[in-house]
Amino acid sequence: MEFTKNRILSNKQLCRDYYLTETDGNGQVQMGQFYMLRSWGNIPVLSRPISVFNADQGRISFVYKVIGLGTVVFAGLKPGDPIELLGPLGNGYPDAEGKIALVGGSAGVAPLYLAARQIKAAHPKSGVDMYMGFSDKPFLTKEYEEAADQVVVNVGGFITDEIDPEKYDAIFTCGPEIMMKALYEKCQKAGAHSRLWVSLESRMACGLGACFVCSRPVGGANKKICKDGPVFPAEEVFSL
Ligand code: FES
Repeated sequence: MEFTKNRILSNKQLCRDYYLTETDGNGQVQMGQFYMLRSWGNIPVLSRPISVFNADQGRISFVYKVIGLGTVVFAGLKPGDPIELLGPLGNGYPDAEGKIALVGGSAGVAPLYLAARQIKAAHPKSGVDMYMGFSDKPFLTKEYEEAADQVVVNVGGFITDEIDPEKYDAIFTCGPEIMMKALYEKCQKAGAHSRLWVSLESRMACGLGACFVCSRPVGGANKKICKDGPVFPAEEVFSL
């Protein structure tokens, strides 16, 4: 797989450090997959792994937080500017139906929009509840209200306090690891931990499983987050 040359269609600041960037592109994206993005010619900066927020009719969009030089460059891009994409990459969330909870923190809400849309498209009778946690200003809540049956937003507190794991057949989460671990512990108390899937973040270089930059112990073995993940059963990540 190689980088493709694409163009920026729009680039919008959602709030302080968070951006929604839309490019052209036609990938068949599975919920929870990501792309490696770069837009800096020969500057020696690693490509950035960014979650797919949405993919539809020749457009792919990404949500990210500006941290470091790479994402500062992305934030400054204008419609028509070139950008290179490698993907879609990673395994994505598994198929799920029934009553589904999606739990995201900050930029971790990003892949759960496509998850809500794909679950509803594949299983129209399924119920999808979206839980969104923010430390500061919430964003994209209107979009999630259109995609999910119910949206719960928590600002400045713990989104994990809002969810009753027993109500759900599957729970997908993405966001700060401390939040996902707290959710795992809550699910464990409710006997629902085997229904929880987490998406891990990592620094990456190749995105293809060819280096060891993203390697970490998961389920008793070293796993490459880019290729073996980024989605894992929570039990493999958090059980001792
Ligand atoms: Fe190279 Fe994952 S980034 S193996």
